[in-house]
Amino acid sequence: MKLPFLCALVLLAFGCASAQDVPPFTEDCRTGTYPPNGPTFLGKVPWYTVNLDLPPQERWSQLIYSKKKELLNLIQAIKDLANAFVPSGKIVKLVDEDLPLLVGSLPYPFGEEIKGIAHASGMALGEVMLFNIFYEVFTVCTSIVAEDKTGKLLHARNLDFGLFLGWDIKNNSWTITELLRPMVVNVDFQRNNKSVFLSTNFAGYVGMLTGIRPETFTLTMNERYSLDGGYIGILEWIIGKRDGMWMSFLTRSVLENATSYEDAKNQLMKTKLLAPAYFILGGNQSGEACVITRARVSCLDVLQLDIKQGRWYVLETNYDHWKAPFVLDDRRTPAMKCMNRTTQENISFKTVYDVLSTKPVLNKLTTYTTMMSVSEGKLEAYLRDCPDPCMPW
Ligand SMILES: *[C@@H]1O[C@H](CO)[C@@H](O)[C@H](O)[C@H]1NC(C)=O
Ligand SMILES: *[C@@H]1O[C@H](CO)[C@@H](O)[C@H](O)[C@H]1NC(C)=O
Ligand SMILES: *[C@@H]1O[C@H](CO)[C@@H](O)[C@H](O)[C@H]1NC(C)=O
Ligand SMILES: *[C@@H]1O[C@H](CO)[C@@H](O)[C@H](O)[C@H]1NC(C)=O
Ligand SMILES: *[C@@H]1O[C@H](CO)[C@@H](O)[C@H](O)[C@H]1NC(C)=O
Ligand SMILES: *[C@@H]1O[C@H](CO)[C@@H](O)[C@H](O)[C@H]1NC(C)=O
Repeated sequence: MKLPFLCALVLLAFGCASAQDVPPFTEDCRTGTYPPNGPTFLGKVPWYTVNLDLPPQERWSQLIYSKKKELLNLIQAIKDLANAFVPSGKIVKLVDEDLPLLVGSLPYPFGEEIKGIAHASGMALGEVMLFNIFYEVFTVCTSIVAEDKTGKLLHARNLDFGLFLGWDIKNNSWTITELLRPMVVNVDFQRNNKSVFLSTNFAGYVGMLTGIRPETFTLTMNERYSLDGGYIGILEWIIGKRDGMWMSFLTRSVLENATSYEDAKNQLMKTKLLAPAYFILGGNQSGEACVITRARVSCLDVLQLDIKQGRWYVLETNYDHWKAPFVLDDRRTPAMKCMNRTTQENISFKTVYDVLSTKPVLNKLTTYTTMMSVSEGKLEAYLRDCPDPCMPW
């Protein structure tokens, strides 16, 4: 079996105990955290431009040159970790021999972009492919779209990354999460010198997890763990059953090319995927927001924002909304509690940042918080930290 280390890491999840609902790991809803300040705020995310008019191989060069050192540190840590789980050099063989072959079978423009990133960073092609797989697989998150009293939508998310990727006992932190923070970038994707979409992303990743198409829609993706999950999809794809799309490649295509909320929704519901996912979509007018729960082939459910029924926001973590969250990982209840307490009258960037700053919605894995307003075409992103005492997830 290929990628056995991914499976081993996931199995670990079920062996861990949690104290997520006990103080000091949880706290009363925070207030006054915005503008971002204090120990949970590590800085603003820097902006870069990617010119879509350039050939895919050249688009990322400038960004990659400026993040080269961080990229090499991260890939070394990923390889060390993989080797620790699967000794005997099998991982090295996978990365050096098998993954480069995969790049050629990726749809346009993704394979070409990955080749360009390998070239600009001086890394082996298989290594760039490896962390594109990692980003795809190890994210856990909280996403919210809310409508204010004037009918404007705001979309916010915490990106939690690096679960099970090497707990650093000395520093009380996740090794990969620490190395990932310097990789967080905001990217302004342009054609003809005009913004097509904006995204908070990781340097070296060609898929998208968080983005806005100004005046049109906002989109985030959350991981959905399921038995028919990402690992099966990715394994099948590696052995040649390549009829599904990478989830974050779909998100990227939609941000780049979908022309309306309805068009985006339709593509997110119907495109066959490699693995299950949640897509959280916000439109540009009242009532346009939903959580799309996807299996690989079918769309299982669409939860729609519905003011008439009193549902003025939709919120998704990493569990189907009609089921209880995994008992060791309930970020949904605390986030909803704080949203309910905020009320629709008072929802804004300021108050949604408070919600996303409340433990355990904020936890040791939280890498960044992004807030987007479709009507203002605005994206704000902040690097986060969760000093002790704080839940590992
Ligand atoms: C962990 O802590 C040690 C010393 O306390 C420090 O040298 C090292 O850079 C830290 N590592 C990370 C990833 O923060
Ligand atoms: C974009 O702007 C730059 C400098 O402002 C200019 O040199 C270039 O020709 C413009 N490109 C397009 C496609 O308009
Ligand atoms: C919302 O999107 C529609 C369809 O793309 C567009 O016609 C309309 O002008 C947009 N409205 C706003 C307020 O941006
Ligand atoms: C978006 O559409 C353009 C034009 O059809 C195409 O060249 C480009 O590859 C598409 N982008 C993605 C990410 O699929
Ligand atoms: C928040 O409010 C919604 C709608 O009134 C309700 O269904 C939900 O149970 C509340 N959740 C919490 C945690 O207070
Ligand atoms: C909403 O904000 C106003 C003004 O800041 C405040 O007086 C009011 O108590 C807030 N309402 C809630 C439910 O927090």
